[in-house]
Amino acid sequence: MKVTFSKPGLPRIGAMVVFGVQAGQSARLTTTGEVLDRKSGGAISRALKASRFKGEKGRCFVVLAPERLRVSRILVVGLGKAGDITDLTIEEAGGVAEAEVARAGDETCAMAAEPPKGCNLGAGEFAAHAAFGAQLRSYRFDKYRTKEKAEEKPRLARITVLTPDIASARRIFGRLEAVARGVSFTRDLVSEPGNVIYPETLAAQARKLSRLGVRVQILDEKRMRALGFGALLGVAQGSTHPPRLVIMRWNGGSRTGQGAPPVALVGKGVTFDSGGISIKPSKGMEDMKWDMAGAGAVIGVMLALAARKAKVNAVGIVGLVENMPSGTAQRPGDIVKSYSGQTIEVLNTDAEGRLVLADALWYCQKRFKPRCMIDLATLTGAIIVSLGHVHAGLFANNDELAERLMAAGKAVGERLWRLPLDTAYDKQMDSKVADVQNISSGGGAGSITAAQFLQRFVRDVPWAHLDIAGMAWSSKDAPTVPQGGTGFGVRLLDRLVMDYFEDR
Ligand code: BES
Ligand code: MN
Ligand code: ZN
Repeated sequence: MKVTFSKPGLPRIGAMVVFGVQAGQSARLTTTGEVLDRKSGGAISRALKASRFKGEKGRCFVVLAPERLRVSRILVVGLGKAGDITDLTIEEAGGVAEAEVARAGDETCAMAAEPPKGCNLGAGEFAAHAAFGAQLRSYRFDKYRTKEKAEEKPRLARITVLTPDIASARRIFGRLEAVARGVSFTRDLVSEPGNVIYPETLAAQARKLSRLGVRVQILDEKRMRALGFGALLGVAQGSTHPPRLVIMRWNGGSRTGQGAPPVALVGKGVTFDSGGISIKPSKGMEDMKWDMAGAGAVIGVMLALAARKAKVNAVGIVGLVENMPSGTAQRPGDIVKSYSGQTIEVLNTDAEGRLVLADALWYCQKRFKPRCMIDLATLTGAIIVSLGHVHAGLFANNDELAERLMAAGKAVGERLWRLPLDTAYDKQMDSKVADVQNISSGGGAGSITAAQFLQRFVRDVPWAHLDIAGMAWSSKDAPTVPQGGTGFGVRLLDRLVMDYFEDR
């Protein structure tokens, strides 16, 4: 879908979107809404009165084929109380509008994006975020639906956002559009099935970032063996698809070289997780195609940073493997030697993500000495038990980094909830025969013990671990996130970088 900005006016075709705020017990329209109401002889205000729409946030109200106007329909989208409006409110309203217009079958849509009275945002900011929300919601993964009739597909090809401040809307949207590109790329990668996306093909997708000026390096199996990646390679050995480690570097910071340590992002990229010899039940196993969502988010945020030319040095590392049972697969009880030198007793081959991350995290610290390191992983089913599909789990060895992540998450609507790390949990990962074991022997707290395992491979760097198992995929539509792969993490990390790590 294409977004353009233009001066306020009244379109002659397609759908028209205006916003309404909650003022006492009724909805108040924005300026264009009032103009439309007058031109249509009061059609909107009569309809508003006849309904119970009060401009509530997230609600949307449609007037079909209004008299004396040429548009197909007018949507009034609620923003809630004017004083409470944030970027996020407008993004969600833009998303709700896009979904409704696309569902109705219009090909074009004009959105009158003027801030209502009492709203503290600038006109350009308001318009850009409305456009961003619409853009995010317009995502669709339909490449394999060959029999869907053209008239059944949404035809909304263009949204014209009407704003009095075109220049600043365009400038702000320039950045947001880069983020939307990153989110879409991640959603594509996560949505692809395991027979299409496996370590080599996922690495090839990451390689595409070099077009944007990202330096992409790919380590193959031989190279990882030479380095001593025993933990990652143990997971990969059951699959016919060989593993890869992808290193993506974006050097947009004002200083380069030794004096400019990067922000490091590390992703779990298990392109399919059958569980291995500790095989998963068949019901729901298809979901494990998205066990590479952490890697997908890292690739997407690197794309976004490069596309918007972020003034930061960042490195993204993704460990790519397929976890399969076979005659060559790793056995429960196997002991592997990780790149860090620590030996690991693999008690359950389904706790594979942490094995992949152990080597990726160590490599990241050893090679890049980052200023901070954040990993993203669909690591545990247990995080869904504790936090459901509302928050991702956050673990950190550094309060400042944790607080920054929490704030960035709140700002973009990708929320986090912090859980503890503690030596009492760490002890539960001691092995009787090796340095560490990959699952705890009873005691619950599955997401925490997984994080403790990771922490054994973290030296003295501010580090955070995001367990995104409940957030990578959504079974229902949300205002800016259609059902399917969510792209969770891209907006969050882009915002973290923008607010705390970019040079001025
Ligand atoms: N990829 C899974 C975690 C997962 C489960 C993500 C369900 C999304 C939905 C991970 O590799 C895994 O299998 N974890 C095990 C760990 C256990 C063996 C200690 C789990 O959560 O059951
Ligand atoms: Mn697993
Ligand atoms: Zn997994």
